[in-house]
Amino acid sequence: MVFWMRSRRLFSFSEPSPAFRPSPGEDPSDDLPAYAARRTEGGKRRLDDNRAANGVSPAIPPMDQRTGTADPAEAEKFLRLFHEEDPDAGPLEPRLRQVLAQISRYGTYTHTPEELTYGARVAWRNSNRCIGRLYWQSLRVRDLRSVDSAEGVAVECVNHLREATGSGRIRPTITVFAPDLPGRPGPKIWNEQLIRYAGYRTRDGAVVGDARNADLTASAMRLGWAGGRGSRFDVLPLVVEDVHRTSPLLATIPGDAILEVPLVHPAYPWFARLGLRWHAVPVISNMCLEIGGICYPCAPFNGWYMGTEIGARNLADEDRYNQLPVVAERLGLDTSNERTLWKDHALVELNVAVLHSFEQAGVTITDHHTESRRFISHVEREERAGRVCPADWSWIVPPLSGSLTPVFHRYYDDVQMTPAFVHHSRKSEYDW
Ligand code: ARG
Repeated sequence: MVFWMRSRRLFSFSEPSPAFRPSPGEDPSDDLPAYAARRTEGGKRRLDDNRAANGVSPAIPPMDQRTGTADPAEAEKFLRLFHEEDPDAGPLEPRLRQVLAQISRYGTYTHTPEELTYGARVAWRNSNRCIGRLYWQSLRVRDLRSVDSAEGVAVECVNHLREATGSGRIRPTITVFAPDLPGRPGPKIWNEQLIRYAGYRTRDGAVVGDARNADLTASAMRLGWAGGRGSRFDVLPLVVEDVHRTSPLLATIPGDAILEVPLVHPAYPWFARLGLRWHAVPVISNMCLEIGGICYPCAPFNGWYMGTEIGARNLADEDRYNQLPVVAERLGLDTSNERTLWKDHALVELNVAVLHSFEQAGVTITDHHTESRRFISHVEREERAGRVCPADWSWIVPPLSGSLTPVFHRYYDDVQMTPAFVHHSRKSEYDW
């Protein structure tokens, strides 16, 4: 059961809104005009009703007609790549003609399920900052382009979490919701990941929880979220906007869809009493998926964690959970001088605890040594396929023991390629 709030009232929910789903057997790619028009008309009607009922203008202003329009050059580039790399894709020419005709007539076109799957996988392959790209071809793609309501998005995000998490054997997965259409934006999730911990600002300027999410926490509370228990690890509600509503939807994620790992250390029993934990699956939810000139603003995707993301950043950064002084104190280290390397020592123990705890809990995690080796194999494999592997050294090199890993000792081509995951800011975001 997903609970959500709108206009400061709590609703419970069981089924996503059926509006704008293609009727059974309908392939939107065959019949773009009818499909797009149905979505647009229905949405507009609901928007107008909403406005009339509330006497307010919508939270998301209708897009400028040019926004959401597909660039034919991008479409062509993508189709050429797809047909070149996938021998089963059939002949390029008829498809290219069809797509260019659709764009010139309607301003956009619809990807086939095969194009969508391939595009999402290549967007992962092109993610310069991701060290975990060896398995890009195994990304599971959930095609939910017919879902454009915030309620539908919330429900399917919960299903995404359940499917990707399983019982701990994490499956890299992406769910693709409705794209931007000309003059009509797709839905959008404000949270940077589906599971994020609240950061509550206190009167003295400190933050309880994850300071990284303090702005989102404040926005959610302004929108009517009552706040959680007030712990350091309260999961935030999803904040989802869509074109049908005047204010974003708040949806709490049911506890059984959130797998978390309490942190323990293999050698230090006191470590468990620090009360640290982290969620099992990182599902990035605020990046747009761009394929062939089409922008999917709501396309949450996940892999599994590399230990250092949690142990060397989330729990260690001074402006996040800042746990090194706590761990060092319990270890009895001399913290009077940085040159005792107390931070470095505490950092290693914290990372040992993260890897150990996930492994004991049966939750997929990788260490930075293994993942670095895999990344080098990936780069080599890409080169053998005649491609460059774009990469950003400063993101690829792990934040712990960089020079002990092979990814440190070389340079990369840091070029931007498409399809890609990109950040597009939207005016409405956090404007509450
Ligand atoms: N670094 C982010 C975090 O700590 C997650 C980014 C994606 N990571 C991944 N392994 N897919 O939450």
